[in-house]
Amino acid sequence: MCEKAGQNFRCAACGDLLEIVYPAWDTQLVDAAALRAVWRQRRTSGLPVDESGVWRFRELLPRFHDGQQIITLREGNTPLYEMPGCARIAGLQRLYAKHQGMNPTGSFKDTGMTMAASVARREGFRWVACASTGNTSASMAAYAARGGMRSLVLIPEGKVSWGKLSQALDYGAVTCQLNTDFDGCMRVLNEVVQRMPVYLLNSVNPYRLEGQKTAAVELMEQFDWQPPDHVIVPGGNLGNSSALGKAFLEMKQLGFISTLPKISIIQAAGANPLVRTMRETGGKTLIPMHAETAASAIRIGSPASWKKAVRVLQATGGTVEQGSEVEIALAKAEIGADGIGCEPASAVTLAGLKKLVKQGFVKPQETVVLILTGHLLKDPEFTLNFHRGHLFVGTGSEEETGILKPQQRAPIVLDADGDAVIRILRKADNRLET
Ligand code: F0G
Repeated sequence: MCEKAGQNFRCAACGDLLEIVYPAWDTQLVDAAALRAVWRQRRTSGLPVDESGVWRFRELLPRFHDGQQIITLREGNTPLYEMPGCARIAGLQRLYAKHQGMNPTGSFKDTGMTMAASVARREGFRWVACASTGNTSASMAAYAARGGMRSLVLIPEGKVSWGKLSQALDYGAVTCQLNTDFDGCMRVLNEVVQRMPVYLLNSVNPYRLEGQKTAAVELMEQFDWQPPDHVIVPGGNLGNSSALGKAFLEMKQLGFISTLPKISIIQAAGANPLVRTMRETGGKTLIPMHAETAASAIRIGSPASWKKAVRVLQATGGTVEQGSEVEIALAKAEIGADGIGCEPASAVTLAGLKKLVKQGFVKPQETVVLILTGHLLKDPEFTLNFHRGHLFVGTGSEEETGILKPQQRAPIVLDADGDAVIRILRKADNRLET
């Protein structure tokens, strides 16, 4: 039994992160069919809490007695796309992507932030804060602003994409760029929240994970409550994989689904503490590391929620994999070529999936869902450098970049002349040659 600690959301007795549990579910019967109908019905309602793809599922969340207190930007309700091109590339018959980058601030963080920011306001906090690789800060700043609170952001200097940084600034956050990495920002923030009346909104806050659970519930609704065989999630601080796993386990406990998908977690090879922890210690002891990857959202060497993630891997029978920098860049362009697009951290899912299919862990006829966590426009600099062929210059990975050529489409600079454009058009499509 864990005792509620202070602002650091850890058990005072064992030091582990707190988790929200619902003891009533052990004794009360939940009418799954009735709730499914209620949740569907709410999609036609004009009430803000019903329009939200998080609060629509409020029976599975901590209770808010007054809907007025909830801060919502109508998050959730994100699309599930078929990915025919990526399926072919990975060697699968069917592949889907649940695009959490289609949330109001462009990442999955919004689903957790609506919940945890609402708690902060209900508890009377004037200030909220987070350490971030960019997306959490963008999301937190937006929800704080909507809720009439101030926000403090700590980010690693020079390692946050401009798209994300500019969001935090526009939404009014006090933004501090610290001369350290994400793990260092987290350490400093822990000290700040111990000393000041500021509410911590990183994913160590268990309310964040409750909101993030709803992506899995919504996914099941989109699949008519038939779970896929595999769900593939990118891993950074490991809050999201923990939240999705918790949701699937709870849905099974409550009778919404009868089987569990295998949840597998993919990291960048340069930021792979969970992969190493599983392979080298069987999940018993975290192996922290100095993280380095251009997928800056998941440049994390000491993930806070690693124990929760290990439990999800073990409970669902999932596995871990990693993608190299070149493999991530290629996968991102392939997701883009399916007309979907995502940020680099999300593309590790496809990079890892290809390996899981080759290893036989994922079978060609199985149904697979990639969780895409961030929008393509979050990191346009990465995308432009990729297409212009600049991404790997001076990195030592140049020899491997041959495989990227077919996906690279740099802008073509021309005179303002119809003939010149038509020549390019003919070259791009040889059926127009004659
Ligand atoms: N994908 C994106 C786009 C992210 O921004 C993050 C995390 C992850 C995946 C990994 O999720 O940490 O729950 O395992 N971004 C955090 C941030 C760390 O500060 O925005 P996780």
